[in-house]
Amino acid sequence: MAIGVAVSGMYTLTPTLSSFKHPTRLFSRAAFTAKLPLQFRASSTSFIDTETNPRESNVVVVEKDVSSRSSNSLACPVCYDSLTWNGDPGFSVDTITGSSFQCSTCQKTYIGNQTHLDLTATGGAKSYGESMPASTELFRVPLISFLYERGWRQTFSVWGGFPGPEKEFELMKGFLKPILGGNIIDASCASGLFSRLFAKSGLFSFIVALDYSENMLQQCYEFIQQEENFPKENFILVRADISRLPFVSSSVDAVHAGAALHCWPSPLAAVAEISRVLRPGGVFVATTYILDGPFSVIPFLSSLRQNVRQVSGSYIFLSERELEDLCRACGLVGFKCIRNGLFVMISATKPS
Ligand SMILES: C[S@@+](CC[C@H](N)C(=O)[O-])C[C@H]1O[C@@H](n2cnc3c(N)ncnc32)[C@H](O)[C@@H]1O
Repeated sequence: MAIGVAVSGMYTLTPTLSSFKHPTRLFSRAAFTAKLPLQFRASSTSFIDTETNPRESNVVVVEKDVSSRSSNSLACPVCYDSLTWNGDPGFSVDTITGSSFQCSTCQKTYIGNQTHLDLTATGGAKSYGESMPASTELFRVPLISFLYERGWRQTFSVWGGFPGPEKEFELMKGFLKPILGGNIIDASCASGLFSRLFAKSGLFSFIVALDYSENMLQQCYEFIQQEENFPKENFILVRADISRLPFVSSSVDAVHAGAALHCWPSPLAAVAEISRVLRPGGVFVATTYILDGPFSVIPFLSSLRQNVRQVSGSYIFLSERELEDLCRACGLVGFKCIRNGLFVMISATKPS
């Protein structure tokens, strides 16, 4: 499955043999003389079909045509109207560099820099800036971004029961089954450990690696450049605030947020945004730390939770009931979870 640029009647289609493998190449460069609404749409011309041996366990079967339900658009984080651009139609990590994107409603322009596209509301502001709580700002420090996949993330397994990225991906595939072949936002991707796995799996038509930390995105970009044969097509790096997602409503098939919910300034505002951008039937899957059952009655631990929240703004150690309530409050249904010690993977769906 791949994604193509939305077609409007005025553009010439020039299908070639390779366009059927790469539907984004359906359009000749010459045809792109006018500004396009920046939409990604799954084409029906190319598919992943990972069906191998149906008797094997862990077999993933991807639906062959999701064109009718897989469409997403980058939007202005100020007014949520879709962005237009006049760049190369082959959307990838590399073509974003130097491209400019414009909101026709508020007239704001967003520029892709060397590594990513900045779609924060403050993007482009010259003098004004805002700082976030410590649990967000910490990850903007260059040293933390450097260390994240070089030891920091590994500690989650030691004390938090996190199974590790590959195993977590295997677990989440169960939840993502209904949307495989569609697009996915890896929200708060950090240096992109899951975004890169998603891209290499071939199970998604378009991947947006999104984080608030410009240094994390830069680190992700470097990892991608270092990797031979990394599938850069249909993969972009976007800087954005989780509480102001730069996507058109109901345009996203899945949002993944690994080990991030407890770092967000307001999980409620974030999950509400995720719910807004998910299309009906779209899936939210996230991992975080959980604390309930017998542990929650230990006075030291519950006061620790309060103190951590006051100092860092982190919503770490919610209970299963709170997480389910959070999803429900944001209009997501069918809450499910998998637990291991302090680790929890949750999933909920936008009602169809
Ligand atoms: C612990 S890391 C998780 C990274 C990765 N997803 C994983 O599974 O290991 C948390 C990430 O959340 C990001 N983050 C924190 N606040 C955010 C916000 N307001 N908007 C977007 N991302 C945010 C941080 O920059 C950081 O990269």
